[in-house]
Amino acid sequence: SDPDSLQDFCVANLNSSISVNGFPCKPDAEVTFHDFFFDGLSKEGDTTNVFGSKVTPGSVLEFPGLNTLGISMNRVDFAPGGLNPPHSHPRATESGVVIKGKLLVGFISTNNVYYSKVLSAGQMFVIPKGLVHFQLNVGEGKALTFTAFNSHLPGAAVLPLNLFASTPAIPNGVLTKAFQVEDDVINAIKSKFGS
Ligand code: GLV
Ligand code: MN
Repeated sequence: SDPDSLQDFCVANLNSSISVNGFPCKPDAEVTFHDFFFDGLSKEGDTTNVFGSKVTPGSVLEFPGLNTLGISMNRVDFAPGGLNPPHSHPRATESGVVIKGKLLVGFISTNNVYYSKVLSAGQMFVIPKGLVHFQLNVGEGKALTFTAFNSHLPGAAVLPLNLFASTPAIPNGVLTKAFQVEDDVINAIKSKFGS
């Protein structure tokens, strides 16, 4: 859902001091085949973290050749029981294919309807633009999925981190009221994320 391109390609110059919507193009004379290939999704992500999952991004920031083309991909690895926590992508619809393992994939509509299914290798899912979603490894071993986005920079608002690990922190008074709990519950959650 990014804007249409105005030329064949516009390999990003990520270091330009010029600020535009997207990134400025590097000069055509400097573009080579290297700009259109990317190895960054070939390695398993390190899932040793509280969630037991790792998103390895392949957005314009890692793969500058994607600039202005309205497309990108991620690799997501899961330890057994690992969760890619509830999050949303403000600029893209997501589709994914499970490569390995068994994933519970769920999203919630703006009407608070929950849609979900357990998927195994070869099966696809789609997450409509901007909706909150997650994937949970419900299989015995590791799991792996590749996801694709109709934006070169989909962005991700990860709910637990947005709400409980922001800088500066959201005042407890907001969170106690929002979740109808006491201060100690909010402090306990914040402490899990090191804030
Ligand atoms: C999975 O939800 C991803 O954003 O890659
Ligand atoms: Mn996602």
